[in-house]
Amino acid sequence: MIAPEQLGQEMIPRGYSRRAFVRTLIASSALSVVALNKLNAAVYESLASLNDEYGQDPSPDGAYWDAVREHYMFEDELIMMNNGTVGPMPEPVFNTLVSAFKVQCTSPCDVYGFLPRRREEVRRKMAGFINASPDEVVLTRNTTEGMNFVANGLDLGPGDEVIMSSMEHPAGINPWRLKAARNGITVTDVPIGLPPQSVEEVTEAFERAITPQTKVISISHTVFISGLIAPIKELSEIAHQRDILLLADSAHGLGMLNLDMKELGADFFTSSPYKWLGAPTGCGLLYVRQEAQDRLWPTIASSGWDSDTTARRFETLGQRADAILIALGEAIDFQGMIGKDRIERRVRTLASHLKTGLEEIRGVRMHTSHDPYLSGGLTAFSLEGVEAERIVNYLREKYNIVIRTIGSEEAGTRGVRVSTHIFVSLREVDMVLEGVKYLADHA
Ligand SMILES: Cc1ncc(COP(=O)(O)O)c(C=O)c1O
Repeated sequence: MIAPEQLGQEMIPRGYSRRAFVRTLIASSALSVVALNKLNAAVYESLASLNDEYGQDPSPDGAYWDAVREHYMFEDELIMMNNGTVGPMPEPVFNTLVSAFKVQCTSPCDVYGFLPRRREEVRRKMAGFINASPDEVVLTRNTTEGMNFVANGLDLGPGDEVIMSSMEHPAGINPWRLKAARNGITVTDVPIGLPPQSVEEVTEAFERAITPQTKVISISHTVFISGLIAPIKELSEIAHQRDILLLADSAHGLGMLNLDMKELGADFFTSSPYKWLGAPTGCGLLYVRQEAQDRLWPTIASSGWDSDTTARRFETLGQRADAILIALGEAIDFQGMIGKDRIERRVRTLASHLKTGLEEIRGVRMHTSHDPYLSGGLTAFSLEGVEAERIVNYLREKYNIVIRTIGSEEAGTRGVRVSTHIFVSLREVDMVLEGVKYLADHA
């Protein structure tokens, strides 16, 4: 529970728990910037003492995660297992968002200098978080924008080809379709399995598809339909041997996986931090590898597009909602306090527990690989004789569990998708399994 010691009993109105009262105060923005900062300090103190208690334990047990869950703001009874669309914010992120907007409200002149300076602080934090240089980080507004910045910014025309997987998100398909309509490039789909059985199945499919005309491989790192984590490192190597650029759509990757840009080797990498990182909507990441920057034009131009020698030139967007970006920095701090590697391990533990249980239920068809190299925190499956919608509705009505339908009948990908982030418990994963088993037994 956040900062209980900050509120004396006499300050809490009758009928409110401390937790509910703090939330009401925050929700009404009644707290001063100083008080919001103090609330954040209390959250970090509580996380620090949790970390002390669990020491260097790389995989702490449920009590640790139950305590972390307390710092997320969604309703107590809600079991959030759809991070893929928009995930919840931890309390410090919301507090920082409110206090930064409060500075803008109460002292608008600070927007000229103070807030944009903090943007650079966030860029440094993001760079550290993904093992990149701040000069390679573009702070966008979402993955869609990042994908479009790349498609628009590359000099491609008739005779040039872009190849992409058959399971791309509309935000990954349409920027290239637009380029095809406008500039005459060719766009080719490469079928990938549901799920692929091995890394080689994916890499060999792309190797076979590459032609002398291929200039770009555009592929989801985190495939929204199937939960596949695509082998970006291997595909980047294949691409670079042939002077092809690789664009990875990792809308779900930030905050789910312990990302390392140097390791992955993609030229362009986009993500939406409001899915798994706990940032507010309205901020995104586009990473542009140093070596690829000269091949990309800015899409939006204001001061700096022609003079800045870093990836900042792709971000001359005029006045920004800096409060959102500052809150993004807070989301990085929050996860940093828990540990990126520890988060990824927990996400995988939960997903593996889910997959193991699902595989034992008659009629379940897994759309996600069980191989940890080819999967992460998104698990997709279908159930013979049961509509995807029925699974979603049943779990919501019976357990208040939020998951989503995904894919399409025509493509043979229709199913449901479950996200297992750190605020989900093994008990709650068991509820999903119990619900699916019930539906399977009554199909
Ligand atoms: C793989 C993938 N790419 C792109 C997007 C679009 O993300 P955004 O709406 O944040 O731009 C999504 C959204 O869920 C997605 O799953």
